[in-house]
Amino acid sequence: MKDKTGPSDLGDMSTEEFRRHGHEIIDWIADYLGEMERFPVLSRNQPGDLKRELPRTPPLDGESMPAILADFRDLIIPGITHWNHPAFFSYFSITGSGPGILGELLCSALNVNAMLWKTSPAATELEEVTLDWLRQMLGLPDSFWGIIYDTASVSTLHALVAARECVAGLSPRQKGLDGKGGRLALYQSEHAHSSVEKAAITVGIGQEAVRKIASDAAFRMDPKALESAIQKDISAGWRPFCVVATVGTTSTTSVDPLPEIAAVCRKYHLWLHVDAAYAGPAAILPEMKWVLEGADQADSIVTNPHKWLFTPIDLSVFYCQRPDVLRRAFSLVPEYLKTNVDDTVTNYMDYGIQLGRRFRALKLWMILRYFGQKGIEARIRRQIGWAQELAEWLDSDPEFERMAPTPFSTLCFRAKPKALAADEKALEQLNGELLERVNDSGEAFLSHTKLNDRFTLRLAIGNIKTERRHLDRAVEILRQALAELKEERGI
Ligand SMILES: Cc1ncc(COP(=O)(O)O)c(C=O)c1O
Repeated sequence: MKDKTGPSDLGDMSTEEFRRHGHEIIDWIADYLGEMERFPVLSRNQPGDLKRELPRTPPLDGESMPAILADFRDLIIPGITHWNHPAFFSYFSITGSGPGILGELLCSALNVNAMLWKTSPAATELEEVTLDWLRQMLGLPDSFWGIIYDTASVSTLHALVAARECVAGLSPRQKGLDGKGGRLALYQSEHAHSSVEKAAITVGIGQEAVRKIASDAAFRMDPKALESAIQKDISAGWRPFCVVATVGTTSTTSVDPLPEIAAVCRKYHLWLHVDAAYAGPAAILPEMKWVLEGADQADSIVTNPHKWLFTPIDLSVFYCQRPDVLRRAFSLVPEYLKTNVDDTVTNYMDYGIQLGRRFRALKLWMILRYFGQKGIEARIRRQIGWAQELAEWLDSDPEFERMAPTPFSTLCFRAKPKALAADEKALEQLNGELLERVNDSGEAFLSHTKLNDRFTLRLAIGNIKTERRHLDRAVEILRQALAELKEERGI
């Protein structure tokens, strides 16, 4: 048979060619996952480096897979920051695990659209079952119903739409926000993720209506300040409608006090949405159940398996105790989407903005089965343990200062040499340069934030392939870079 290098006739890639390149790509992926450390974690590309290498016009004739794959290796890979690298400690460290990657592959091969039960019964039912497994693992009551969206940002957007749907006297679905029912006000801590404010912008509530409630010394929302803000708004004619509490804030991973916040929400009849995008999976551990204490009183919760549950991006899980409200807000069924089983099955398109939906449940199901609850617990527990060990090191090293408590696997700290201890500007400059040097090493990638206006380094542990030696090396690089910076400054 002729060795085809392009599409067969007018059809797709031939089965033989697919098999050959498929094997080649799986081999490449296996090598990549096994030898990731030969790549710098952070891409060294400069702006425009890739664009300069690519043709400005599209290919007129098909090209061979070997040519395409050669460009993938030679042009694309240098511009990749390796999020799957065991020394990726930036933002929140994530994992595309083996079973997750294979799940993604099968998902694209099936290419089903999980919009209706009928359009792929197994896709809907696997989503229902897998999310119920995860709910049990998290220790949430069975009154929580789950759905998969792409990201936490979109999950929170859905929470806000559902919360808005519940405001008495408003008909946002029919009339939009015509201003007649009073202006809605939303509450979050000053440390909530920007996705909450973005959701407020998107649903038409507006940034002016977002109240950023003060937090305590451990960066947790102050429930008393929350209640005062609500009372003040009510007196001024605003209509409080929703509170977003965070379990694992983005900068410090602080945990807002859910039981107290839930009590305020009950008192004022507000929708409580819990953003547990990062830290939710910690609640799988028996000793960490406390993090979701009070979440049983929330109306909705988001957690992201694509953050700390070894799931390739994207997969965000939204649990809701009032799916009827979500359905009321979103269901709109034209004739061509009606089926003869609509009364007896879940049609996930009724619970969100999207019609078309990827079969994301497949990869999560494969991950939960492959590692099992105990395997997941052990991995998360080890990562939390390492973070506690690093916290102890930071507390004992006079050159460094820990900037926030470490309830999970993320550390906030800064270098604070004695000679600069009283000079905030110099400390900011020094820590900025320290971060650059560590990241330029290619052996570790950290990020930063600002806490109480102080430049703070963040080291987040979460990749399944991270070993203790990667952390030891990161500490060594940090110390070495700090020693160099001190020497250059003559301090
Ligand atoms: C607490 C929290 N919420 C929400 C998000 C947004 O997540 P996503 O990228 O899935 O929208 C993040 C991202 O880091 C986060 O830390």
